[in-house]
Amino acid sequence: MTRIDSTQTLPAGTTLAAGPLVHEGAHRPDGGTPEWWRDAVIYQVYPRSFADGDGDGIGDLPGITARLPHLADLGVDALWLSPFYRSPQKDAGYDVADYRAVDPLFGTLADVDALVAQAHALGIRVIVDLVPNHTSDQHAWFRAALDAAPGSRERARYVFRDGRGEAGAQPPNNWSSIFGGPAWTRLPASASDGPAGAPWYLHLFDSSQPDLDWTNDEVHAEFRDVLRFWLDKGVDGFRVDVAHGLVKAPGLPDWDGSVAMVEGTTAGDEAVDSGAPEDGSTGAGNSGPMFDQDGVHDIYREWRAVLEEYDGDRCLVAEAWVEPLSRLARYVRPDEMHQAFNFSFLTTGWSAGPLRTVITASLTASDAVGAPTTWVLSNHDVVRHATRLGLPQTGERPNGLKASDPQPDEELGLRRARAFSLLMLGLPGSAYLYQGEELGLPEHTTLDDAVRQDPAFFRTQGAEAGRDGCRIPVPWEADAPGLGFGPTGRTWLPQPASYRRYAADAQRGVPGSTYETYRAALALRKELRLGAGTLAWVDTYQASGDVLAYRNGDVVVLANIGQEPLPLPVGARVLLASGPLDGAGVPVDTTVWLRA
Ligand code: GLC
Ligand code: MG
Repeated sequence: MTRIDSTQTLPAGTTLAAGPLVHEGAHRPDGGTPEWWRDAVIYQVYPRSFADGDGDGIGDLPGITARLPHLADLGVDALWLSPFYRSPQKDAGYDVADYRAVDPLFGTLADVDALVAQAHALGIRVIVDLVPNHTSDQHAWFRAALDAAPGSRERARYVFRDGRGEAGAQPPNNWSSIFGGPAWTRLPASASDGPAGAPWYLHLFDSSQPDLDWTNDEVHAEFRDVLRFWLDKGVDGFRVDVAHGLVKAPGLPDWDGSVAMVEGTTAGDEAVDSGAPEDGSTGAGNSGPMFDQDGVHDIYREWRAVLEEYDGDRCLVAEAWVEPLSRLARYVRPDEMHQAFNFSFLTTGWSAGPLRTVITASLTASDAVGAPTTWVLSNHDVVRHATRLGLPQTGERPNGLKASDPQPDEELGLRRARAFSLLMLGLPGSAYLYQGEELGLPEHTTLDDAVRQDPAFFRTQGAEAGRDGCRIPVPWEADAPGLGFGPTGRTWLPQPASYRRYAADAQRGVPGSTYETYRAALALRKELRLGAGTLAWVDTYQASGDVLAYRNGDVVVLANIGQEPLPLPVGARVLLASGPLDGAGVPVDTTVWLRA
């Protein structure tokens, strides 16, 4: 761990006086003891890539359970499991065929019980994924819908429409799928077809993921029941997939804008200090008649009421690509969800000005509704931040990388990633980690196209690499076959050669390793209650384009985002640093936590 005592000083007269409080600390609107999720560090487990118990090369629930001591040692408060439900795996489990069953690939319901019990015994809560926007085309409801007649109860659970043009040969509107191609697929002709011929069904994602019709009460009743099924099993909450997409604008009007999930521009160094919108927007929001319709909020009020029937502060977290942050905050009003992922933060570049803006806007927007802000830098849908930050800041946010793309500077990316993570973990609110970031894992940027599985790669005819590169099996042991992913050495995607040096067992107990730095950060964050803390910007650097510095209680977090080493402030004691400090102070692309 990088705990360093330092006697270095800034030039005389430099102080760390803080400005006014931007955020006053975690509290419940009703004044009671803050719930666990308000300041929790929540670790995302992507089941197929975390740990393989049975040796088939695909991660599974027993594999996760066996590795829970790693998460306890790291010091996380909760884990979020991406889907492990019965599924044909066309979108890695985000295509659910049965919401109450475990896919045999991952194990059994008894394996879920064992995982939850073991996690709880270690003091770790468990959040599961809920996928309500669409089912798999293998779900019993969709199969029944295909067999049923137009206008039937079975068809009414999905969004079937007649096509436009002669014989209904054109899709009902011009929407695109987020994975590329049209958002509509036509059924084969059948004897029951009306004059418009075979109908079409809507899928915002892959054609194997038909959208449910949330104007239908039966859909509401089914999902309330699914929530209860898992709540009865003792899970602590749900991460709600595509939470901004369930309700579509009446009449499904045409839309000429883009629907990409991750788009817009990453603020580059110049865009920065001049151009960041005051509301923190970065282009991370989806818009159009398929997103962020007012009707979604009725659904979350309904679900909140279901959770309130249960003890133990169960929670809902929204995956909603919505901007500005004040609009995102509507998902976490007191009678709706508890948290929403902060994708505006994730998509802000390594630049002091935009970061200051997005952090202030995030805290202000969530404070206005009494909810905690969340912070997140990586997940299973975006290029890992250790790689993102090593790419030239071109303003593009690629959906994955290929061998033919410009390759990242791995060392620079890792240095910045560690600095960015320490900047994040000192902030008040709740923080999400994605498996492997505590090891500093980079993206696999040279995967062979032949092994890719993301539907986005296929639906864009390979124009987008897709998300496989951030879903590579975790390296646990440097000298074991498959880097210890499972007992046979098999891995469903190949690990890059560089993963050997990132293996968990090569970092555990090694001072200054990425793993030990994260572990120290989580321990200090807990000890000093930083997640429940306050935020004020340090006056000295308030307008700086090179330094981001905030005070949270007695701790000052200072990130050097400039080009020159930064002398340490007068009388400051270094509690933690994201990289080695040298005689010249805080090196470039380094964050320090100071007692000052
Ligand atoms: C969410 C998931 C993503 C999935 C999509 C469709 O954005 O995070 O992985 O492909 O929804 O369910
Ligand atoms: Mg397995």
